[in-house]
Amino acid sequence: MLAIIGGSGLTKLGSMEVTQRRVARTPYGEPSGALTFGRIRAAEVVFLARHGYGHTIAPHEVNYRANLWALKDAGADAVISVASVGAIRGAIAPGALVLPHQVIDYTWGRRSTYFEGPGAPVTHVDFTEPYSAPLRSRILKAAREASETVIDKGVYAATQGPRLETAAEIDRLERDGADLVGMTGMPEAVLAREISLEYAALAVVANYAAGRGESEHAVPLDRIGAVLEEAMGRVRRIIEKLCET
Ligand code: HPA
Repeated sequence: MLAIIGGSGLTKLGSMEVTQRRVARTPYGEPSGALTFGRIRAAEVVFLARHGYGHTIAPHEVNYRANLWALKDAGADAVISVASVGAIRGAIAPGALVLPHQVIDYTWGRRSTYFEGPGAPVTHVDFTEPYSAPLRSRILKAAREASETVIDKGVYAATQGPRLETAAEIDRLERDGADLVGMTGMPEAVLAREISLEYAALAVVANYAAGRGESEHAVPLDRIGAVLEEAMGRVRRIIEKLCET
């Protein structure tokens, strides 16, 4: 079963025929909200709003371990994570959809592994390629079939938030090789890897990152809502197409 984690701007999927909502409990606490089960086209899917259905949970407060565990426990084998980001490189503009292929983790103080605590075995997962290649291919194919443009590849920088970055921090991320910046990409991706969930992120560019383009002096937060609303329509079409095949 396919799981979809919706980020800012995506708290429900209009085309989903909902069959059940279930509050899940996990050894790691409570997920961000009830799991929503249903069908999109022919496919069984489960949906979870990362920040809660009322968008009340900040990126650094999301219980990523509970979210991924609950989805796996519910029978998910693959996760598409929809996440809004800022664009660092000029060629990527607000409204663009990007399928990152790499991540750099700048977050701190988050519970970022299942392998800790008394009795847990010391375990090192391979994370050379943080996103599932087969799932990325499926998303790219669905986007092509839906005639929606998705930029293939990008380096995602995961920052702690909840504040946005300074212009100098964005310069540093660019020097590090990052194309996109967001606050939720980690530890979500590695937790999925630890429990063998196929995982890919579909990044929705909400704004130019601090110091870039029209964000030269400030990120225009009041405009982000409209950008995301339009872009999420395209995300929904891609997911629908993916669910047809
Ligand atoms: N920075 C970090 N996270 C974000 C941004 C940003 O500019 N836009 C959307 N999520």
